[in-house]
Amino acid sequence: MLSGSRRTPTPNFRGGTRFNNAHETLIWAARDRESRYTFNYRTMKAYNDDLQMRSDWHIPVCQGGKERVRIGGRKAHPTQKPEALLYRVITSCTKPGDIILDPFAGTGTTLAVAKRLGRRYIGIEKNEAYLRVCEERLRRTVPYPEDILPNRLEERPRRVPFGELIERGYILPGEFIYSPDRTYRATVMADATVTCGGLTGSIHRVSAQLLGKDANNGWHFWFVEREGTMVSIDELRQRAIRDGGGEPPQQA
Ligand SMILES: C[S@@+](CC[C@H](N)C(=O)[O-])C[C@H]1O[C@@H](n2cnc3c(N)ncnc32)[C@H](O)[C@@H]1O
Repeated sequence: MLSGSRRTPTPNFRGGTRFNNAHETLIWAARDRESRYTFNYRTMKAYNDDLQMRSDWHIPVCQGGKERVRIGGRKAHPTQKPEALLYRVITSCTKPGDIILDPFAGTGTTLAVAKRLGRRYIGIEKNEAYLRVCEERLRRTVPYPEDILPNRLEERPRRVPFGELIERGYILPGEFIYSPDRTYRATVMADATVTCGGLTGSIHRVSAQLLGKDANNGWHFWFVEREGTMVSIDELRQRAIRDGGGEPPQQA
């Protein structure tokens, strides 16, 4: 559950009987425990200057000026929500192309922000006057170009570890792998370690030891020979990713 807090709350006219209502509660729910849902954790952290996004949001109520929809100079709707609130809700919990339902659409704030952010949307509104306002607002809303839509941080590539290249037959146990200038030649073992001279370990560890370094990226050090040509094992890994499979992205 998140709460959107209002820095400029509407005054409470039942003076002296209750606190001024300065926040609204958002219910963040899924159908059941097994349901898959989107939460763009990394995106929200970047959004918040690399600090984990908090559950209390300070967003002003819908201001006058450009955002407030008016008919003949008067508010078109008494409870129009601020676009900033929906921008954050939609960015945090959906992906471009997702479908967003607002069954109480009012002036269509949710739907307009959804359209701007490249989401699809369904709105329901019982009041015909509000419905017309909503339709006109949507007609005027221009989506952002697709190439600037967010979500890249959530697109974590699948990972193919060295052992998987052996399991899937891209490299065979007993094959040789070579350093770029062929100075070193290691044998690939059935358990995905490599052995070179007296050294045995992962592709990374053995390459680091050969170079006298603490660490080294073995993916860029070792090559296999294919039809007379040296092919980087990183290239084989890219092929394996393209062919499908790989470890699922790690959870946050
Ligand atoms: C709080 S307002 C929504 C305001 C909206 N978020 C906006 O920014 O303009 C709730 C809306 O739900 C509509 N509504 C209430 N009951 C409804 C129902 N049963 N079916 C469809 N719309 C309904 C009301 O007419 C009202 O416009």
